[in-house]
Amino acid sequence: MAEEAQTTCYDSSWVKRFHYFLQQSGEHKTILSALLLNILPGEFKRMGLDKSSLDVLGLGSGGGDVEVQTIALLQSTFPDVPITTDIVEGSIELTNNFKALIAKNTNLQKIPFAWHLMSSEDYEKQVKAQGDLKKYDFIQMVQMIYYVDNLGDTITFYHSLLKNNGRLMIVVISSHCGWDTLWKTYEKEFSKDGVTKWRPSAVVIAYLKSQGLKYEEHVIPNDIDITECFDPSSENGVLLLEFITGNLNFYQSLTPEIRAGILDLLRSKCSTEKDGKVIFNTMISCILVYA
Ligand SMILES: C[S@@+](CC[C@H](N)C(=O)[O-])C[C@H]1O[C@@H](n2cnc3c(N)ncnc32)[C@H](O)[C@@H]1O
Repeated sequence: MAEEAQTTCYDSSWVKRFHYFLQQSGEHKTILSALLLNILPGEFKRMGLDKSSLDVLGLGSGGGDVEVQTIALLQSTFPDVPITTDIVEGSIELTNNFKALIAKNTNLQKIPFAWHLMSSEDYEKQVKAQGDLKKYDFIQMVQMIYYVDNLGDTITFYHSLLKNNGRLMIVVISSHCGWDTLWKTYEKEFSKDGVTKWRPSAVVIAYLKSQGLKYEEHVIPNDIDITECFDPSSENGVLLLEFITGNLNFYQSLTPEIRAGILDLLRSKCSTEKDGKVIFNTMISCILVYA
């Protein structure tokens, strides 16, 4: 696959914007409520049936807010089955946040966590070089597939690590929501500082179909109040705008004409206005790929 290579685990500038985005968007709450209440309980029961051990791999796990909850659900579904977890994440700051969450949870402390402070590409190279192709029951990629060098290689390799009856979970922005419209229109201007390639659900699904992989997609409605993004004097509004556009210096690096076009599109085609607020439509897709 000939996609350009650029590995982009979060540095402190991105962590700062990501944290503000999470605080404003409530994205984790939305994802977790769909995963824990509807999507995963039945999947986990089917996946773990008759297994004497369960192995989980997290890729681009960030601060672990989502993953500690999915692992806790797996643990409570199979309280007598030993679980191991490998976490691959290149940001030290976010990995420390993840460790701090585990330190607060006595049940999770019973699970051995192996920390791999690196990108998913480097982890792939490492395990191939060591010839240690550990297999997993559940592999999670939550909002990280935009950052890998190559979508196809990443999915194919990690899918090959699934055990019999395992699941690869890919959570991404859904196609045909406001965020997708924005990025499709301005991808060239946006793909400089962070996101390697815009990869909403349709792009992931097109690849799965091309490989004949069995999957199911669950769409999770979500929106974010982005009113403050339209106030250039709001420091937080600028942070949010920079996270949404993947551009670390929105007001410095884009021309006034492009900025005006982006803000206009964001308000008119990607959002709805309600009670003086601009509400950005950011649907999420949870794609479960079968072994
Ligand atoms: C949007 S955050 C999502 C974090 C977490 N999964 C969550 O949902 O909170 C993207 C994460 O992917 C990580 N990341 C970026 N490039 C990566 C790569 N090539 N391999 C693995 N992780 C990567 C970043 O460091 C960051 O933690």
